[in-house]
Amino acid sequence: MKRLAFVFMTLIMLVSLTCCSLHSDTAGDDKGKLIKVGFSQTGAESVWRVADTESIKKALSEENGFDLIYDDGQQKQENQIRAIRNFIQQDVDYIVLAPLVETGWDSVLEEAKQAGIPVIIVDRMVNVKDSNLYTAYIGTNFLQEGETAVNWLESVLKKYGRENDNINIIDIQGTMNSTAQIGRSEALAAAIKKHPNWFLTAQECGEFTKPKAYEAMGDILVKTKDIDVAYCENDSEAFGAIKALQEAGLTCSINGGVIVISFDATSEGLTDCLSGLISMDVECNPLQGPYVAKIISQLNSGNSVQKITYLDETWFDCFNITQDIINNRAY
Ligand code: AHR
Repeated sequence: MKRLAFVFMTLIMLVSLTCCSLHSDTAGDDKGKLIKVGFSQTGAESVWRVADTESIKKALSEENGFDLIYDDGQQKQENQIRAIRNFIQQDVDYIVLAPLVETGWDSVLEEAKQAGIPVIIVDRMVNVKDSNLYTAYIGTNFLQEGETAVNWLESVLKKYGRENDNINIIDIQGTMNSTAQIGRSEALAAAIKKHPNWFLTAQECGEFTKPKAYEAMGDILVKTKDIDVAYCENDSEAFGAIKALQEAGLTCSINGGVIVISFDATSEGLTDCLSGLISMDVECNPLQGPYVAKIISQLNSGNSVQKITYLDETWFDCFNITQDIINNRAY
């Protein structure tokens, strides 16, 4: 009987030891299998930016097999550079960078390359000497967005018989030297060059935020109220500019008021479009997370990836916008 009890106890110990070791092996494997990604975001300056961050965080979640280290650059390039260096020290598998501005990335991206860490650029582009410093780019063709806006303006002025009128345009620019600002400002500059009756009455930076744009438009309105078009380089700026224009006694509308052009097409922006405050809003797609996750999983399986991916985007104006479109908007 004693002998039988001994055999039974030994068996129980063996089974529980095996279970224990199996359990810890599984947990270890699971953790080990997660892909470690460092994501450096510019900040949280706009509704668009928050949607972009959420999209990337959601796609690179633990349930999807990622161990994400997120860093908010708070609108400072030096913070983003510091974050990338931290990611390198933490030996991440991939770095995702949403760069604040285009230039000044060569050294830190070289460091990532030396460490063998692929870098995926999202949203805005980097202007580097060697394009091998990044593996892939996912984002927007900002010049094309600007061209969509100015072509629309040209056709709308024609529609209202104003093609030969003098048109005074205000440009509230986004963060200087960011790809979004460069592309959108360049498209406007080219259109002004093409139309001798279009004038760039004032150009000020609104930093892609409502308060800065409000301030910038307020400064401009002290000097002139003879404004036909407010070309705001994102929705947040449009909200600030509209507030300043209204406070100065001007109306915002496509026919007889200031024509406000904006970018992003957030649900808030499109709501202003429906009410006629914003005449036209070019879509800028912040839902980049799934594309980033796809690129990383392709790279992880040893496959080659497309170097440049531009997301599909459309545009809305006060004629084609509907409440239904706004209700179905993801951001
Ligand atoms: O780079 C994209 C731009 O940055 C968006 O238009 C703007 O809203 C954001 O802050």
